[in-house]
Amino acid sequence: MQIATTVAELRAVRRAMAGDVGLVPTMGYLHEGHLSLVRAARERDDHVIASVFVNPAQFGPDEDFERYPRDPERDLALLRDKGVDAVFLPSADEMYPNGASTFVEVTGPLAQVLEGAHRPGHFRGVTTVVAKLFLIVEPRRAYFGRKDAQQLAVVRAMVRDLRFDVEVVGCPIVREPDGLALSSRNAYLSPEERRAALVLSRALGRAEEAFAAGERDGQRLRAIMRALIGAEPLARVDYVSVAHPETLQELDRVADGALASLAVRIGATRLIDNVTLTS
Ligand code: PAJ
Repeated sequence: MQIATTVAELRAVRRAMAGDVGLVPTMGYLHEGHLSLVRAARERDDHVIASVFVNPAQFGPDEDFERYPRDPERDLALLRDKGVDAVFLPSADEMYPNGASTFVEVTGPLAQVLEGAHRPGHFRGVTTVVAKLFLIVEPRRAYFGRKDAQQLAVVRAMVRDLRFDVEVVGCPIVREPDGLALSSRNAYLSPEERRAALVLSRALGRAEEAFAAGERDGQRLRAIMRALIGAEPLARVDYVSVAHPETLQELDRVADGALASLAVRIGATRLIDNVTLTS
């Protein structure tokens, strides 16, 4: 496995690869969710490049950039074990030379609702770094988790608008046996908070059940989820949504394929999760 820390090194590694290259962008502290993307890439592409970069541009001033968990040695061992061909591990200076003042931003409602409304500038940071990675790596495909459903939609919009020749592949959410979606931020949770964090997947499960039983009123589906989360003293709702799967606009009448999503604070830790409603 080759390790590149500069853009020049990564480009040299990339140029030596023939056939399709799959890119798996991550912020590290890898878990089975990330590794499922690597597996999907290995199945389809001739070569897999993973990136590990905690991207400062996508964190707000009061967010957890400084304390975001990092363990590059362990990440490299996991990626090597999974048969990744090359890892890009740049410094912030390498990705943002001289501070950098060029940004890529998907404007419009898709990026302004939900995460966009609660984390101003977040998606601008995501699309800027993903656009840079696409330009540096020139992948045939790039793999993203549906765990971050809005991120996936915003990246798809960027690829469409900028005519990137990259196929964006969305991969299923990987969960713990009890339902908690895997996240690097789960490492912040105390044992008590870890138990409380189950309200996210449970609330989504309740919405799924109600939808399967015929409930089509968006307002009521959102209320069902809010009520369950409200009963957990350690949890505080950021948002609860039942929205169109592509535009992410809230729905009054809910059809098959709608996206139920939520962001909840468990103590100081902000977690997100979602599920597609099907009858
Ligand atoms: P990060 O949170 O490290 O996630 C990297 C990728 O792993 C994302 O596509 C995310 O959706 C996926 N992922 C995380 N948890 C998952 C789970 N439980 N199941 C399936 N996939 C999961 O998302 C980012 O980093 C950054 O915003 C990034 C795209 C790398 C840009 O900086």
